Amino acid sequence: MLICHTIKEIRDFVRQARSRGLTVGFVPTMGYFHEGHLTLMRRAKEACDVVVVSIFVNPLQFGPREDYDRYPRDLDRDVSLAREVGVDAIFHPSVEEMYPPGFATHVDVEGLTECLCGLSRPGHFRGVATVVTKLFNIVRPDRAFFGQKDAQQALVIRRMVEDLNMDLEIVTVPTVREEDGLAMSSRNVYLSPEERRAATVLPRSLQAARRAYESGERDAGRLVELVRGMIAAEPRAVIDYVEIRSIPDLKPVSRLDGPALLALAVRFGSTRLIDNLVLGSPDGVL
Ligand code: PAJ
Repeated sequence: MLICHTIKEIRDFVRQARSRGLTVGFVPTMGYFHEGHLTLMRRAKEACDVVVVSIFVNPLQFGPREDYDRYPRDLDRDVSLAREVGVDAIFHPSVEEMYPPGFATHVDVEGLTECLCGLSRPGHFRGVATVVTKLFNIVRPDRAFFGQKDAQQALVIRRMVEDLNMDLEIVTVPTVREEDGLAMSSRNVYLSPEERRAATVLPRSLQAARRAYESGERDAGRLVELVRGMIAAEPRAVIDYVEIRSIPDLKPVSRLDGPALLALAVRFGSTRLIDNLVLGSPDGVL
């Protein structure tokens, strides 16, 4: 497995693969791998000849009071996990390599980014869209893999790829969960044992909403109230948002008559967790 720190190195690697007629799959990440990341890599491996993974904690997508500095990092562990999965190359650039002095261009996806996490994290999706555009231009993959765990991010990237005629396919992969249902996240390590136990209310409340939906409930307000009620009963949980919005436009909905996303963000202490449920789509994926 090749480890590249510069844009030139990874470009040379991909150029060689392409010249041999191989397809390139790409998994952008911020590292500190868990089974969610590894599942994306395995999917990429199944679908493409060569797999490139980027590890870059992107300062542009963190707000001034967010966790950029303390975001967990462990490159050695990530490298050995990626090697086990059969990843062909890792791209691990420095901040200076990605954002040299004078950097001035950003990508803004309108509409979709003005709700849910876009409201509580101003500038977040601008940072994500900008770095993902740069990574796509550097790696030039045939397919890129994103987790449904970050459903709004996946929808923003799809919109951007379509709007800017980027020549690649976006594949979304279902959320990978811990045994007790908690969605895997690099940020779960921030939780104290009590907070970790309390956080299981998130998957439990989403499952309750799924059951209500499956029993015929189509009133978005009542489904949201069901989830809110369960989370509010957990003293350690502070709700940022619980909302149901249409897929793929993320418009507010009052009745569920098409595919919809039940999305939530909840704080446990200083840790903000997100999770979601896709309703009204045959396979439950975005
Ligand atoms: P990061 O949080 O490291 O996530 C990298 C990819 O892993 C994303 O596509 C995310 O949706 C996916 N992922 C995370 N947890 C998952 C889970 N439990 N199940 C399935 N997939 C999961 O998302 C980012 O990094 C950044 O915003 C990035 C796209 C790399 C741009 O900086």
